[in-house]
Amino acid sequence: MAGHVLIVDYGSQFTQLIARKTRAAGYYAEILPAGLPVEPYLSRKPGALILSGGPASALEEGSPKLDPALLAAGLPVLGICYGMQLLALTLNGKLSREDHGEYGPAVFSREKQSPLWDDLPTGEFQVWMSHGDRVMVPPEGFAITGSTETLPTAAMECPEKRLYAIQFHPEVHHTAYGEKILLNFFKTAGLSPNWRMSGFAQETIENIRRQTAPDKHVLCALSGGVDSAVAAVLLAKAIGPRLHCVFVDNGLLRLNELQEVQQALKKAYPEMDIVAVDAANVFLSRLAGVTDPEEKRKIIGHAFIEVFAREAAKLGPIEFLAQGTLYPDVIESISPQGPSAMIKSHHNVGGLPKNLPFALIEPLRDLFKDEVRVLGAELGVPDELLWRHPFPGPGLAIRVIGEVEPESLEILRKADAVVRQEIEAAGLQREVWQAFAVLLSNKSVGVMGDGRSYGRTAAIRVVTSVDAMTADWARLPYETLAKLSSRIINEVPGVNRVVYDISTKPPSTIEWE
Ligand code: XMP
Repeated sequence: MAGHVLIVDYGSQFTQLIARKTRAAGYYAEILPAGLPVEPYLSRKPGALILSGGPASALEEGSPKLDPALLAAGLPVLGICYGMQLLALTLNGKLSREDHGEYGPAVFSREKQSPLWDDLPTGEFQVWMSHGDRVMVPPEGFAITGSTETLPTAAMECPEKRLYAIQFHPEVHHTAYGEKILLNFFKTAGLSPNWRMSGFAQETIENIRRQTAPDKHVLCALSGGVDSAVAAVLLAKAIGPRLHCVFVDNGLLRLNELQEVQQALKKAYPEMDIVAVDAANVFLSRLAGVTDPEEKRKIIGHAFIEVFAREAAKLGPIEFLAQGTLYPDVIESISPQGPSAMIKSHHNVGGLPKNLPFALIEPLRDLFKDEVRVLGAELGVPDELLWRHPFPGPGLAIRVIGEVEPESLEILRKADAVVRQEIEAAGLQREVWQAFAVLLSNKSVGVMGDGRSYGRTAAIRVVTSVDAMTADWARLPYETLAKLSSRIINEVPGVNRVVYDISTKPPSTIEWE
């Protein structure tokens, strides 16, 4: 699509968030990796460029650079973080390497009016920083437009050349007015809004039809979570009876999960072909004795594919496997489009075997959960499915720390059910992103009745988030915490201690493994 926003990805964990925020503002965005020759970027006929952040130091030899020929095309450019440093370096400004980087919140002051600050309330505002290097001297022709207490050049621009740069991340939730700043850039760049979710749904349905033409069948891995449900509905709209959904009971599901999800789906989509497969033994026997989180994830990813392949063979020739993979699963598992760091193998991406016996269809691969909910609402998916909390594919295996034994799963299922019931009872289901229990491997001493107990610890994890890329621990009312603790200790044999996890993401992640 000509006239859109082209994001050059230097490997930031947040690159797709830039795309998401761009789409939310109504502009189509495309991401291409850094380091290509100029032609592929310009042949897309973008209306503006955004240079993303990235984990490298622009001063390091071999780090990804910006080709001056790309700037010579005269497109409006917004450099973010590493992108700002690259602009400075490429145009002969000066950078410096700091001993201590700046990570997290900072207070930003405007030094000069800029089109990027149009219509922002007056005064300082909070921004989110994540950088090691800094711009010491902006290139000739650039004015400094903002600073923080520790960073004199936190924003700079050369409006004559339509080059803008900010050291903070406007794309993350914790930067105040980030969306507005991006929108101001698009307006200054003279772009016209050209993206809507209904257009995305239609385009995706047509793509699926083309991909599976004329009569190929697709197996859709259903977990009951919102992502796979929305993916299945998209596929059903595209290919109807050529879609076969498989829900695998891997022995790692939550209390009553299989029944609840099956009922909800059958009620909403009676015509959908849904098979439930009991494969608990396969998964649990392979997990026996395994304690390493990455090993668990890989074992589970492989076992899923085996089960799907077996089912596909029963159902007839099936060429495609459809999954509800989302962007955060992709970015944290591998480095798909740039030099980003691997965080953990989300089972449906990094956990897949190399010789996959299917071609993949992942219609939600570029989206974030909140976008999937908007898409689901657009497609008429009922709230009951749309507002389920995310549940990871590897299930309770990554919430039992250490070895995944049947007794531990039993304890965790009970504790987890209490957490979910109490969050629902407190009316917080939609306020929080996820609420669950984690069973720790250590034991501690307690006193129960008149005797000594030596039992396990349940950690409660309740987080707020918009897109799972960043998350904060939920400030639950003390009464809810007290109820959770006393109910778990009283109702779940084997647990004698309950703790509340007060870590943010980053630096922690939402799941413990
Ligand atoms: P983390 O733990 O990386 O999780 O902060 C971010 C979000 O992703 C979910 N998650 C997964 N989802 N397969 C999935 O389908 C996985 O392997 C997986 N691992 C984590 C997690 O629950 C959270 O919502």
